[in-house]
Amino acid sequence: MSLEIVILAAGQGTRMRSALPKVLHPVAGKSMLGHVIDCARQLQPQRIHVVIGHGAEVVQERLAAPDLNFVLQAEQLGTGHAVAQALPFIDAERVLILYGDVPLIEAETLQRLLQQVGPEQLALLTVRLDDPTGYGRILRNAAGVVQAIVEQKDASAEQRAIKEGNTGILAVPGKRLADWLGRLSNHNAQGEYYLTDVIAMAVADGLVVATEQPQDAMEVQGANDRLQLSQLERHYQQRAARRLMAQGVTLLDPDRFDLRGEVTVGRDVLIDVNVILEGRVVIEDGVQIGPNCVINNSTLRRGAIVKANSHLEGAELGEGADCGPFARLRPGARLGAKAHVGNFVELKNAVLGAGAKAGHLSYLGDAEIGARTNIGAGTITCNYDGANKFRTVLGEDVFIGSNSSLVAPLTLGDGATTGAGSTVTQDVPAKTLAVGRAKQRNIEGWKRPTKK
Ligand code: UD1
Ligand code: CA
Repeated sequence: MSLEIVILAAGQGTRMRSALPKVLHPVAGKSMLGHVIDCARQLQPQRIHVVIGHGAEVVQERLAAPDLNFVLQAEQLGTGHAVAQALPFIDAERVLILYGDVPLIEAETLQRLLQQVGPEQLALLTVRLDDPTGYGRILRNAAGVVQAIVEQKDASAEQRAIKEGNTGILAVPGKRLADWLGRLSNHNAQGEYYLTDVIAMAVADGLVVATEQPQDAMEVQGANDRLQLSQLERHYQQRAARRLMAQGVTLLDPDRFDLRGEVTVGRDVLIDVNVILEGRVVIEDGVQIGPNCVINNSTLRRGAIVKANSHLEGAELGEGADCGPFARLRPGARLGAKAHVGNFVELKNAVLGAGAKAGHLSYLGDAEIGARTNIGAGTITCNYDGANKFRTVLGEDVFIGSNSSLVAPLTLGDGATTGAGSTVTQDVPAKTLAVGRAKQRNIEGWKRPTKK
């Protein structure tokens, strides 16, 4: 049966007190609406319609994709009115309604819901809550069959005592939708066209209303303010941490771990506290990550070690390679097997061959460094003349003396050496020593100046 999905995302979100539209606020580094869209995609619908209103331009600009149909709801006249805006574009046997500010909903829950919808049946996701304040309440008859939804503001005291709340998420037979939406009125406490009123209409038309519940109430929790946003964030992170531990990762403190993207992990990985993983991160078997590291779009091969306070972005550590503490690996930094980068070393677009070392206080940019080459403390590649960038190529087994300035473009052959403090401006052939510094003079009996 064909499926189209409508995501409601036109509301303002006043309580966020933000210039950013509510649905763009992030959970785990991705906008709430982005999470909902990704979940919708997992259901492989024919189309996804996103109803936008407040901040429509920004929302569309940020999330535009070929499989999304953005529909403008110029005035927010209610959830029923919002779905009606998408109606002219819909032609499916099943229509699923989602909310752009309910980001933790799981595809598995929606699959269960969708299994219940058919030409004569709609499916409603409900949730039992200790405190259902604010939610529409599910009205069932004596036999337990759903009859209607009543909104909090329209409910009697007796109805308000009902603990079963409407999540807002529902799946309906597409062919009926136009008729029901056309019959909605706004004669209610809020003067809005309530989508929830279609339940009573469906019942009157002789349809069955099936219900499903989420695995976990946080799946259907919306974020109306920053406190709720932080609760969604923590819940997401706890879920992510549990998943990683189940895959064989030791998290020294699962409450101090943040995933803001996607990670694949091997076995026996150890992650110390306050580590943030962003973008796409690949972590192979036996990798160890020290405390306070940020690792963005990087790959850590088997047995690699990232020591405390390192920042990696677009980097790759080869098998058994290590970096840090306080290493900064920028895009294009690649360490071969067992290569070593120590403290206060910055790499940008630089490749270190197997076993190469840069132990302390260096900047290596646009560089190719051969196997086993040793970069002395304080070495800088001068790769930029203010307009263009140039490459530095060092062969294998090169020894760069401490505090050398390597002025690119520059090539050093295998086994070449530079004296400490050299400014190297010319290529150095293999197995040759380059000394590019002022010669030392000693002045005997030199008298220091004294104060007048
Ligand atoms: C709605 C439900 C309520 C349910 C609750 C769950 C209705 C009438 N009520 O109430 O039964 O318990 O959600 O959170 O449906 N939106 C638009 N355009 C509009 C109005 C809303 O796009 O004109 C969007 C909002 O951006 C939001 C969602 O629809 O994502 C829900 O709107 P909201 O105002 O929060 O609905 P509630 O009154 O909380
Ligand atoms: Ca709401």
